[in-house]
Amino acid sequence: MPEDPLHLSTRSGLPEDLRVGLIDFPRARWSEPTVAEMARFWLGVHDGFRRHHAHLGALVSPWRDGRSDLRTLHGRLIPATQQFLQHLDMHHRIESGQYFPSFRNLDPRIAHGIDLLDRDHDVVHERLEALFAAASAFHQAILGAAPDVADHAARLSDVIDAMGPLVLRHLDDEEEIVIPLIQLRGGGLV
Ligand SMILES: [Fe+2]
Ligand SMILES: [Fe+2]
Repeated sequence: MPEDPLHLSTRSGLPEDLRVGLIDFPRARWSEPTVAEMARFWLGVHDGFRRHHAHLGALVSPWRDGRSDLRTLHGRLIPATQQFLQHLDMHHRIESGQYFPSFRNLDPRIAHGIDLLDRDHDVVHERLEALFAAASAFHQAILGAAPDVADHAARLSDVIDAMGPLVLRHLDDEEEIVIPLIQLRGGGLV
């Protein structure tokens, strides 16, 4: 178990000192028409990841319930997994490489929050590597008609399940830092 109490796999939300932006711009106001275009875009991208992860689970369910076979699962799950992996990896690269450096300067009170989000990206990246390995193993097993192909499918399904809470936690927490920041201080960014 990680010792960091704010590690992505253990925390249940942001600490109070990182929720300062929410006092001035609470989540209840994030759908108001005056919300900055960049904030709106950010939220839309995050919702896309939430839906995409739920979609992966929805592709696995029929196979787990015995209502679908391995070939059908493979044909649907591999492309969807590949897309999820590539999009999320790219999203994190852009955030960590382009946006986070300028966010750190916008509000020094939450600079350590940006560092936290950066560390989250490292944690999620490890899960994405595990996802890639599990998806590749399932794909190879199908192609080679391996006797343990069902085990590989189960392993991939388990990796998808296990990463869900971490990805969702990160998306929520990142929004609570970034959306108020963009809305209240991000005039020079957009
Ligand atoms: Fe992120
Ligand atoms: Fe993000």
